[in-house]
Amino acid sequence: MSTTLQKSLLNWFHQHARDLPWRRTRDPYAIWLAEVILQQTRIDQGLPYFERFIAAFPTVHDLAAAPHASVMKLWEGLGYYSRARNLHRAAKALVNEHGGRFPESAAALKKLPGVGDYTAGAVASIAFGQREPVVDGNVKRVLARLYAIEESIDLAPVTRRLWGIAREIVPGDAPGDFNQALMELGARVCAPRSPSCQQCPVRRRCRAHQQGKQDLLPVRNAKKAAPHQQRIVAVITRRGRYLIGQRPPSGLLGGLWEFPNAEIQPGEAHQAALERTAQDAVGLVVTPGPLVAVVNHAYTHLRVTLHVYRCAVQQGAPEPREHTELKWVFPSQTGRYAFPRAHHKFLSRLA
Ligand code: ADE
Repeated sequence: MSTTLQKSLLNWFHQHARDLPWRRTRDPYAIWLAEVILQQTRIDQGLPYFERFIAAFPTVHDLAAAPHASVMKLWEGLGYYSRARNLHRAAKALVNEHGGRFPESAAALKKLPGVGDYTAGAVASIAFGQREPVVDGNVKRVLARLYAIEESIDLAPVTRRLWGIAREIVPGDAPGDFNQALMELGARVCAPRSPSCQQCPVRRRCRAHQQGKQDLLPVRNAKKAAPHQQRIVAVITRRGRYLIGQRPPSGLLGGLWEFPNAEIQPGEAHQAALERTAQDAVGLVVTPGPLVAVVNHAYTHLRVTLHVYRCAVQQGAPEPREHTELKWVFPSQTGRYAFPRAHHKFLSRLA
C-alpha cells in the first residue's frame, strides 16, 4: 500500500493530535482502560471517567483488588455496563493468570474478557507497537470514503472488507499512531455530515472526494425507529427507607441498582400496574401513593417514559424475584449505589 497515505496521516496526527492522558504513556493498562471506556463513548464524555478510574485504580493490581461495587459506581452513567463487568474480570485474569502483565499479541489479548478485535488491535498497536489494525465507527467511515465503498457499512461482509483494508494499510512503523490518526481524522475532519475535506491531509487520495461523493458515503442501513416503552416505577417506602434491588449481572443495565419497575400493559391503569409490579418483582402487596415524577430517557435502541410513584407496604416481606439482592436504604444512602441514568433524573426529587 502507498506510503504517502501513511506519511500524510502520520504527519497530520503529529501536528494535530489532542494531548490526551493515555497518549502520554505506553502503560498498556492505561491504554487498555482508555480504549474500553472510549468504545461507544465520545472522548469528551469518556475523559473524566478515565481520570477518575486511573486515580482510583492506578494499576491493574488495584483494579483487580477493588470491590465490584466500586467499579460499577465509578462506571455509573457511562452505559453498556457489561463493559465494566468485563473490565473487572479482565483485571483479575491479568493478575491471576499473567502476573499482572499484559500479553503483547492481539491474539492473546483477545482471550481476556471483553477484549474483541477492536480493543486487542488498539492495545497491541498503541502499547506494544504491533502491526495490528483497528476499526471503529470513525475508521469505517474514513475507509468507506477513501476507497469509495458503495455498499452499506452495516453489512457483515463489508465490515470484514474494511478490516482487511485496515490490516493492509497499517504500517509496521508507528502502527499505534497510524490507527489513532484514522480514528482522530474520523472524529475531527471526516465527520459523518459535512466533512471538512479542505482540512483533510489525504483528500487527494480520497476516492469519495475525487468523485464528489463525500456527502453520500458511507451508505448505512435504514434505522428502525426505537420502540417507546411506558414503565411504572414503584418507590416502596417503609419507615423512611426505600426498597431497591440489584439487577442481574448480565443483560441491559446489568449489576445496577433500581427501584422495582415494569412496562405498563396496554390499557392498564397506573395504580394496577404499581400493584402488579410490587407483587411480581418483590412479592409485596402495596398501597399506591402519589406520583413523584415522570421522566423520559433515550437508550440506543429504546426510549422509555418512567412514571414514578411512591407506595407503602400493606402486607408481606420483600423477596427478590427479579433481582439478585434487595436492600432498604435511606435517601441519603442512595449515592453509594450505582443507578441507571434514567433513575438519576428523579432520585433527587425523593429526598
Ligand atoms: N477513540 C477511541 N480510542 C481512540 C484513540 N486512541 N484515539 C482517537 N480516538 C479514539
